[in-house]
Amino acid sequence: MELLPEISGRFSVREYESTPVPRDSLERVIEAGRRAPSAKNRQPWRFIAVLDSEKRMRLQDACFGQEWVGDAPVCIALCTTNIDYKMPNGQLSYPVDLSIAVSFMMIQAGHEGLGCCLNTTFDEQDVKSLLSVPYSMRVVMLLTLGYTRASQPLLDRLPLDRVFSINHW
Ligand SMILES: Cc1cc2nc3c(=O)[nH]c(=O)nc-3n(C[C@H](O)[C@H](O)[C@H](O)COP(=O)(O)O)c2cc1C
Repeated sequence: MELLPEISGRFSVREYESTPVPRDSLERVIEAGRRAPSAKNRQPWRFIAVLDSEKRMRLQDACFGQEWVGDAPVCIALCTTNIDYKMPNGQLSYPVDLSIAVSFMMIQAGHEGLGCCLNTTFDEQDVKSLLSVPYSMRVVMLLTLGYTRASQPLLDRLPLDRVFSINHW
């Protein structure tokens, strides 16, 4: 299958089947993140797949009750192992590195026939203590993963000529 239709047809999935995600699919999703580029190839990340249903319910609480966090059979916490490194442009690398990793994971998830939803609405301290994340590390985002139960309408994007230009702004 061509890649662009998979990317264009993706949407944030907030209703999941309870069917477990096959282990090999999960590992390919994580592998896609592991293969992602990062500044200076520092790979400042650790990915924690939460499968345990009780822990997922507690994650849901830490996400201010967003139900799909507990409903999805998998919730991946994308953590950074380095919060200090700045790129030559003066910007922190970890938000960029982790964002690329999650993008790769989301694309692979779609290719596996799985849905997912990126989530940054959580109390980081609660998630850290629940997952025993060391003090100096950060949980940057959560990615719910599972088979889609109900679709969401595809949301429009800004038109190409609004976001793209050649040679000048
Ligand atoms: C950085 C980021 C943070 C997000 N955080 C949340 C979130 O906390 N809860 C949620 O339901 N969706 C969250 N989303 C999903 C967005 O709301 C969604 O991607 C956007 O509305 C476009 O919809 P689509 O993914 O269905 O195309 C987040 C997406 C991004 C990129």
